[in-house]
Amino acid sequence: MNHIKKKKVMVVFGTRPEAIKMVPVVMELARHSDLIDARTCVTGQHRHMLDSVLETFNITPDFDLDIMQQSQDLYDITINILAKMKVVLKEFRPDLILVHGDTTTAFVVSLAAFYEKIQIGHVEAGLRTFNIHSPWPEEFNRQVVDKIADLCFVPTEKSKANLLEEKMPKSKIFITGNTVIDTLLLALDKIEKDSSLKLSLEKILAESGYDISKGRQFILVTGHRRESFGDGFLNICDALKNIATRFPDVDIVYPVHLNPNVQEPVYSRLGGIDNVYLTKPLDYLPFIYLMKHCYLVLTDSGGIQEEAPSLGKPVLVMRDTTERPEAVDAGTVILVGTSAEKIFHETEWLILDSERYAAMSMLHNPYGDGNASARIIDAILEKTAVVN
Ligand code: UD1
Ligand code: UDP
Repeated sequence: MNHIKKKKVMVVFGTRPEAIKMVPVVMELARHSDLIDARTCVTGQHRHMLDSVLETFNITPDFDLDIMQQSQDLYDITINILAKMKVVLKEFRPDLILVHGDTTTAFVVSLAAFYEKIQIGHVEAGLRTFNIHSPWPEEFNRQVVDKIADLCFVPTEKSKANLLEEKMPKSKIFITGNTVIDTLLLALDKIEKDSSLKLSLEKILAESGYDISKGRQFILVTGHRRESFGDGFLNICDALKNIATRFPDVDIVYPVHLNPNVQEPVYSRLGGIDNVYLTKPLDYLPFIYLMKHCYLVLTDSGGIQEEAPSLGKPVLVMRDTTERPEAVDAGTVILVGTSAEKIFHETEWLILDSERYAAMSMLHNPYGDGNASARIIDAILEKTAVVN
């Protein structure tokens, strides 16, 4: 009698956004333990920001490369992951490795898998700016991973079209939606169902420096892109300072990324302003709660560009390019770059013009319906079934 040999799958991630977007994939794999022998490996490219996501969703990795160093550069991340991944792959040799997105973790882990002739599944494949310098180095990372991936799980029709344009065979591409929405819906459900959680989230936010229970209008800000280090961040800080002065009744809440290239300019330029609240990076649930209640979002984050339209929040993206054009096309996201004047004027406009605000606050979900992880696992089972 034939019996099914379990597929060995290893999920690897290392930073906060990858963790948030791979959580539902890890959960879905666990639901298929009769068919799949799954392991989770973290590179530890991030530490605190990664661990906080793992704790929120009770995930204990099987392997932890623990590579993060303060002020690490791209060489540090690349060399350390590559060397340590080699050892892990000798201990557990998966049939398939799943990586996510465009980080250096995704790039280097895929490279290791390629060297070992292990199949690669790329979650959140196919996003493009077609400008190899922006986002940097992420556009390069994502293109390379797609190039060597065996299965590409793309969130939208547009990302599929990008891969077809690059002559990728159709048979490798699966439109799944983005897993970021799977996780967002999990979070919203937790927040909605548990009223004591709401109170504890408010308490956590208050401890982090912002008292949301006062009910003041606030703008939520995040930023961390490498291509904005230096002048870009100084401009962003100038814009925020001008917004805070122009609108004393509006608060600015800014959970500051732990990268020293961000911490230094932000705390030195914006510390001590009355209506600007600088907090440490927030755990995922309090952050979603904050986003749900904010007036608008100023960010350069990829994940937040995807989450905010599902919460009906307008987003001004402080970047010159985006690989996520769907919400821009729908009119809920605007690219404002890193010019202090442009960021200030677009924000002022949205605060003063209620019609413009209403038009940008449409609730819509261009990035998924919450079932992306299930589609990914279905595709894996269908494409890679091993029968002995
Ligand atoms: C990385 C990714 C970027 C992703 C971002 C999400 C690369 C090249 N960059 O950028 O694509 O959008 O994560 O946030 O893959 N730090 C801590 N604790 C943490 C995390 C970071 O102290 O938990 C500090 C450390 O000093 C670390 C520095 O931040 O050296 C930079 O971390 P790194 O992963 O190199 O870059 P990010 O800017 O976070
Ligand atoms: N996020 C969080 N706490 C914060 C800021 C962001 O949990 O203080 C979440 C946010 O909801 C989104 C993800 O982190 O899911 C985005 O991560 P980041 O902006 O660091 O990376 P990117 O998406 O740009 O790669």
